[in-house]
Amino acid sequence: MEEKEMETKRIIPNQAGYKQAGDLLANGGIVAMPTETVYGLAASAYDDAAIARVFAAKGRPQDNPLIVHIADLSMLPWVTSQVSEQAKRCAEAFWPGPFTMVLPKGERIADSVCAGLDSVGVRMPSSLIARELIRAAGLPLAAPSANRSGLPSPISADHVLRDLDGSIDAVLMGPRCEVGVESTVISLTAHPPRLLRPGAVTLEQLKTVLPDIEVDPAVLDRPKEGEQVASPGMKYKHYAPKATLIMVEGDREQYCRYVNEQADGVAVCFKEDVARLGVPVYCYGASDDGRTQAYALFEVLRRLDEDRIEKAYLHAPGQTGVGLAVYNRAIRSCGYRKVVL
Ligand code: TXA
Ligand code: MG
Repeated sequence: MEEKEMETKRIIPNQAGYKQAGDLLANGGIVAMPTETVYGLAASAYDDAAIARVFAAKGRPQDNPLIVHIADLSMLPWVTSQVSEQAKRCAEAFWPGPFTMVLPKGERIADSVCAGLDSVGVRMPSSLIARELIRAAGLPLAAPSANRSGLPSPISADHVLRDLDGSIDAVLMGPRCEVGVESTVISLTAHPPRLLRPGAVTLEQLKTVLPDIEVDPAVLDRPKEGEQVASPGMKYKHYAPKATLIMVEGDREQYCRYVNEQADGVAVCFKEDVARLGVPVYCYGASDDGRTQAYALFEVLRRLDEDRIEKAYLHAPGQTGVGLAVYNRAIRSCGYRKVVL
């Protein structure tokens, strides 16, 4: 079921705006909000009917659970039944920020938020706008990324409106997102703890608090047919523009020579590659700087579609620091197609 053609209000994030958006949320509405990672499509985490509208507006598979957002630690007992010492240490180290913990599900959280699991993903964003909205609603807010399912996540209010104008109640018109890729997700219901989705809180940082953390195999590779995945979101097509994207792994010279030889597509490359390329270029940051890559990646992927590009060669990012998150999104937007030079 897809909802269409209601008026989507544009709300300015000021006192009156928070009140208006908070009231909408407290009454079963669905409202897109900025966070530091990507825009989220928020609804009351207590309200099954509102959550059903989120799934419908996104076209999201019902078995893919949503992340619940809180404004401060006093809200943590509203969403989880049990806060372990480990969870406390992680909260202290990484909240507020681009970091989500999968914890035992609290009783009041709607079953549909967790897609029937007995665990819930919880995040305290650093975005002050997001936290003001949560406070105004007086509720924990379930919020998946505010895109149509399968497309790159939205990092501006404009991206949200392109996907969801006419299908949601309102957009809180905030700034462009600083991080550019979704939060790091770890499971603390797994033993040892498990990295389900890499993000701007890096594996290296996580290891300082959780030395025995394991990386879920689905972070780097396609989950095998019929395999049970720890994070249901990882089995779906994701972050994909309409263009055929191919990841190319090699140094600067190898990559540029390969793309020039193919000559049938554009280059999604690093700024250091540009001078050697004879095809149109879409730059996504500096080769040794995962943060700049994360900031640019989804915007570049959306631009490929706006420009009606059919084929693109993406220079593979490194896999350390924030680069691991960039690699994870990039390989999936390539549908796991990769050329190794
Ligand atoms: O940065 C973010 O996390 C953004 C902003 C809006 O906060 N939100 C976001 O939500 O990316 P979403 O729904 O697009 O991604 C949620 C991810 C999915 O991969 C899902 O499978 C995983 O978190 N997840 C959520 N709850 C889970 C649970 N109980 N167990 C395992 N994985 C879970
Ligand atoms: Mg998403």
